[in-house]
Amino acid sequence: MRTFLILFVFINFDRGHCTETRAQVLSITPKTQEQVDILKNVSTQYQTALWQPVSSQYIKEETEVHLFVPTNSSKIVKDLLQKHSITHEVLLPNANELIEMQMRNGSTDPRSGSTFYERYHTLEDIYDWTNRTFQDNPSKITVILIGSSYEKRPLYALKLSINNRPNKKAIWIDCGIHAREWISPAFCLWFVHHSLSFYGQNQEITNILNNMDVYILPVMNPDGYLYTWTTNRMWRKNRSVKKTSPCIGVDLNRNFDANWCTEGASSEPCSEIYCGAFPESEPEAQAVANFLREHKDSVQLYLTIHSYSQMLLFPYSCTLDEAENHKELLEMAKEAAQKIRRHYRSQYRYGAGAKTIYLAPGGSDDWVYNLGIKYSFTFELQDRGHYGFLLPPSEISKACNEALIAVKTIALKVLEKTQAQIRSP
Ligand code: ARG
Ligand code: ZN
Repeated sequence: MRTFLILFVFINFDRGHCTETRAQVLSITPKTQEQVDILKNVSTQYQTALWQPVSSQYIKEETEVHLFVPTNSSKIVKDLLQKHSITHEVLLPNANELIEMQMRNGSTDPRSGSTFYERYHTLEDIYDWTNRTFQDNPSKITVILIGSSYEKRPLYALKLSINNRPNKKAIWIDCGIHAREWISPAFCLWFVHHSLSFYGQNQEITNILNNMDVYILPVMNPDGYLYTWTTNRMWRKNRSVKKTSPCIGVDLNRNFDANWCTEGASSEPCSEIYCGAFPESEPEAQAVANFLREHKDSVQLYLTIHSYSQMLLFPYSCTLDEAENHKELLEMAKEAAQKIRRHYRSQYRYGAGAKTIYLAPGGSDDWVYNLGIKYSFTFELQDRGHYGFLLPPSEISKACNEALIAVKTIALKVLEKTQAQIRSP
């Protein structure tokens, strides 16, 4: 009886507690410059995480801000907004439950009905999966250690190669450059699984793999990814420490040598878009850049997977100038977006990064493009802002299938173009 009573009190306490102060995502549209300044202050001085825009420097009048507010700063943030008569809408009232839902499927406790690939996985699980995938498919998969992270975790890329035809070309796909974008590593796993399961059955993947090898890096930012599982679900950057600042982490997608640290990146270590001390200062970016430099003659298609906002982007993001083969890239992205719309009724926007979203220098896609890999794309997967980074596990399969159809469409186009080149020298 006593336990019952205690339990009862606890439940009630918890309920009362929860209605006011639980993790939420708020939508706030500042109306005046004063409100802009207050919002900038709130998002930098209090424990919150901006979902949109990517950094507080882009908060401006009459533009919607999406702000993740964790339980322990909920009251103070809401009081502050109220004090300055800034109205807000609650976009996600139950962020805690969504986070729990995403983690529940992490290691043990597999829900009945969902497969391994329809769940999010811890870093450790992804390392185990890498090993297992290699052991189960020794004739098709090799594991390549391309470097290690700031905290000395290995960066393993899988090489998927079905035959040893000479002079084979290749595709590179990386996932998880930004830690909180969990659907991204999930896609890399999905892609490998699909390729291994449907080679010889699905005509498109068979055609692609008969003619090209695929390198897959499931988690480019393992330190950050681990941190989103253990400590802060909304972490974006890597985890490198700077002696001269209390703030941790570099935005790895601002650390590549493409108009490095110009407008659209920040030299301030506390910023979410901090570019680092110099181009490739971060071991994760350097490892990927080194690998691609060494393989630039075979790699013909570069894909990097992010979330969210449903976009297929291509160079440039580091300048408003058009890429030399802009028309070609636009055609390919358009065809992929149309396929997604036809098959899954999802809208994906497409275009050059700088003109479609914002100037963002130092990205891997632009750097790779300038290296000479002329087919370079950044995919922003689901969704368009409803669940944002907290996309429930039940949505993984649709999100990944959409991306898969885009990958196939673009890869087949690249194949077509390069084979035509071989035939007509
Ligand atoms: N949301 C991505 C980012 O901010 C966009 C990447 C587009 N490409 C780029 N080079 N910035 O990193
Ligand atoms: Zn990203």
